[in-house]
Amino acid sequence: MSEIESMCGRLQQCGQPELAQALVAAPSLLEDLRRVDLDAIPSLVQRFVRSRPTPPEGDLAPATCVTTDAGSATDTVRLVDQAALQSAGEAMLAEGRVAVFTVAGGQGTRLGWNGPKGTFPASPVTGKPLFRLFAEQILAAQGRWGRPIRWYIMTSEANDAETRGFFLDNRCFGLDRRQIMMFPQGMMPAFDAAEGRVLLSDSTSLAMSPDGHGGCYAALLNSGALDQMEGRGIDAISYHQVDNPLAPVLDPVFLGLHARSDESSGEFSSKMVSKAGPDEKVGVFAIRGGAPGVVEYSDMTESQTTATDSGGHLRLGAGNVAMHVISCEFARRIADAGEASLPWHRADKKVAFYDPATSRTVTPEGPNAVKLERFVFDAMATATRPAILKVDRASQFAPIKNATGVDSAESSRQIQSALYGSWLESAGVRVPRDEDGRLDATIEISPLTALSAADLADVPLPEAITPGASVSL
Ligand code: UD1
Repeated sequence: MSEIESMCGRLQQCGQPELAQALVAAPSLLEDLRRVDLDAIPSLVQRFVRSRPTPPEGDLAPATCVTTDAGSATDTVRLVDQAALQSAGEAMLAEGRVAVFTVAGGQGTRLGWNGPKGTFPASPVTGKPLFRLFAEQILAAQGRWGRPIRWYIMTSEANDAETRGFFLDNRCFGLDRRQIMMFPQGMMPAFDAAEGRVLLSDSTSLAMSPDGHGGCYAALLNSGALDQMEGRGIDAISYHQVDNPLAPVLDPVFLGLHARSDESSGEFSSKMVSKAGPDEKVGVFAIRGGAPGVVEYSDMTESQTTATDSGGHLRLGAGNVAMHVISCEFARRIADAGEASLPWHRADKKVAFYDPATSRTVTPEGPNAVKLERFVFDAMATATRPAILKVDRASQFAPIKNATGVDSAESSRQIQSALYGSWLESAGVRVPRDEDGRLDATIEISPLTALSAADLADVPLPEAITPGASVSL
């Protein structure tokens, strides 16, 4: 039997007879079909397309977090000793046991940027792209810890070649290209919402999209990245999203908390910030059915979103900033679990598709398709003691998600500039402010100049910044 015939048989068996016909008409469709886990399809269609999964029952309770800032400690946020964690994390960095991991496989449709998101000009004065800002942090950290730091970047099929090209065009921003490994994440086909048919994008290809950042576990394993890390004595993966220029790619306190503290089993750790308000579109850390996890804003009821505690703070206000430390061993365990490793999440989307019956491409008016994604943080439920560190929003979180308004490039630049203005002030520089106390200048400090306000102690600085000036240090 030819491969086409046997594939047609399998497609019939998994409830996709139209795909079998499309394959007969266009045999090169075989290439895409080989990449799909066909055995999983009937159950996925049954569970997520024909029926709509409802969020798990049960009340949500605040997750227990820790902080190194005495002023931030509350009933659910315990104070831990910064100095001890810091020196533990510094030892890990000096021993070369940590790799940086950037997830950059998303499609960035909300931002409307025509290219990989990491190429987006993000810094407030010089417009450095996100990838350069992370590279500069790595260069600075290498100088400090005296050894090369490996950088793993998860791309997707849609942006892998362009991302590689961008790094080569920019000479890897001064890093050695051998210390950087890029690998594409897995893809999932889109399903037609009415029938559960796998959609085609044209006569010879399936309509596929990235399988969510939770696809990183399988991608780390399948690309050989996990083997490479373990072979080099790396046991902690410092994970962050490409969309946040202020994400500290290596944070000693966080690393120390993850690997060397009673708060953590050393498997999966997270950072959180207090939500800016009930409407902020972030997931929150919460306990449901005894297990801590992240609950997306879209899965919370109005009363859950707005409830406050006795101190007047949001009861479920531990916002997920998408920074984690994941041990290699834990990542391997999740990846090895395969299809059963993590749940799928359904998203209803508008997907243009090729109709083989009419040989036409159909552009729907509204959502017609179901896309399925996995989330990295769903692995938290299987960790024995996942730690959650509360951090300062103003110095670590300036996400770029939208073209305008909240979480846009403009709001991110303002947050970055405000942070760098406060660093200069703490170093004794006079910084102009308007009558509301807002910074009246645009300021950027490269990670190569300082990774924190304290690093400015050795940097020659002006006495004052002129109102309205743009300053890049
Ligand atoms: C995400 C988190 C949310 C958190 C917020 C903080 C989810 C579902 N929610 O929301 O809890 O509060 O960030 O900023 O993630 N990515 C991939 N491959 C994919 C999909 C995404 O690499 O298949 C990467 C993107 O490049 C991006 C990041 O993951 O860097 C975030 O994905 P996105 O879907 O935009 O999540 P948010 O809704 O922003």
